[in-house]
Amino acid sequence: MTAPDQPFRTLAGMRDLLPPESGRRRDLVATFAGVVELAGYREVQPPLVEELGVFLRVGEATDVVTKEMYDFEDKDGRRVALRPELTAGVARAFVQHHPQVPWKVWYAGTSFRHERPQKGRYRSFDQVGVEVLGVDDPDLDVEVVALAWESLRRLGLERIRLLVNSIGDHDDRARYVEAVRAFLDSRRGELSEAALATAERNPLRVLDTQRAEDLAVVADAPLIAEHRSAASAAHFERVLLGLDALEIPYELAPRLVRGLDYYRRTTFELVAESLDAAQNAVGGGGRYDGLVEDLGGPPTDGIGFALGVDRILLALEAEGAPEAQPVAVEVFVVDLTDGSSARDLTHELRSAGISADRRFGGGSMRSQMKSADRSGAQWAVLIGADELESGTVTVRDLRSDAPQSPVPRTDLVAELRRRGTTT
Ligand code: HAM
Repeated sequence: MTAPDQPFRTLAGMRDLLPPESGRRRDLVATFAGVVELAGYREVQPPLVEELGVFLRVGEATDVVTKEMYDFEDKDGRRVALRPELTAGVARAFVQHHPQVPWKVWYAGTSFRHERPQKGRYRSFDQVGVEVLGVDDPDLDVEVVALAWESLRRLGLERIRLLVNSIGDHDDRARYVEAVRAFLDSRRGELSEAALATAERNPLRVLDTQRAEDLAVVADAPLIAEHRSAASAAHFERVLLGLDALEIPYELAPRLVRGLDYYRRTTFELVAESLDAAQNAVGGGGRYDGLVEDLGGPPTDGIGFALGVDRILLALEAEGAPEAQPVAVEVFVVDLTDGSSARDLTHELRSAGISADRRFGGGSMRSQMKSADRSGAQWAVLIGADELESGTVTVRDLRSDAPQSPVPRTDLVAELRRRGTTT
């Protein structure tokens, strides 16, 4: 095989996550897990690839399914796809494994959408989220919205807005789609080409428009509130009452329809004020009461949300949160003999839970000390011919002028602990 003309690079819309940002992501997932596990949610990990049919349920009229899916035929001749989100996979897992209800789960993982890449919009992106299957109670909607809100707060975001709406039950929604379709038809002449094309496939999506020329028309569109049944109106009222009781500030967004087709009743979105309008949704979710049935399971209510990890990190940066700091090892071993001591001591320290690194390939005292300094370690452990001879090591504090001291090699772990390593 010959080398490529140009070195390989990541594909458009895909990124390498390098340290220290990769560490910040892991911390974010840990914080999120802490918040939702307190509420009884447990982790689920559906696969990255599923039969295409699983994801078609996300909505055959949506961009996610019609334009952005990474689907292909696998080596068994089956139509499969990389997941564009996790809700459908979680619902499929529910159907397959029949867990006890309520099934309260959380996840963290990568999804793929072949979107037009730009800042905050990638083809490979990470989400954290929760799903609950098997409960039809508006107080659960309150719990789920509150968890989304609380997670973002705990992650340090301050300038966020919570938008909520109810798009009614299955029949309300069907009536509403027809009303919006008829309305858009009556105003054809004023709509952009793009809006007309969207209206053909999925009239509700036109209501989400950001285009100035369409906004004026959309402002006059019928509202779902006019088409909600008494039962869905009562459900929504109870949700709002709950959010008031928990003092979670929300805004009613009567035109919030969301980009996926499975939603019923409560829908919500979290918007970061610090981000550009086109990519400012840091999370969204809602009820999807028909999804499990669509995947071959029994009638089952469902609700959940997903937060976009990439956008949360961008929003934190835009809000001026401190940058991710590189994580340093605690100890750097400087071996001025043949390297055997560095090999053995790093192993010994790590076994004792003390983080340690070394330089490979030897080098002068000066160059090894330079590496020690660059590693960010607090202490250098030095071994030269004299120390080897006397069975000692020299411990030097790299971040203060404290005098260095010889320590019997067998006491090194105890000495470092005495000096305050983290373990
Ligand atoms: P979604 O609104 O498509 O919902 O995505 C949720 C969040 O993922 C968005 O608010 C955004 O922050 C992030 N996101 C989506 N696409 C991209 C992208 N191309 N690049 C970067 N970030 C992105 C869902 O995925 C539903 N499954 C949420 C849900 C769970 N509904 C019920 N349960």
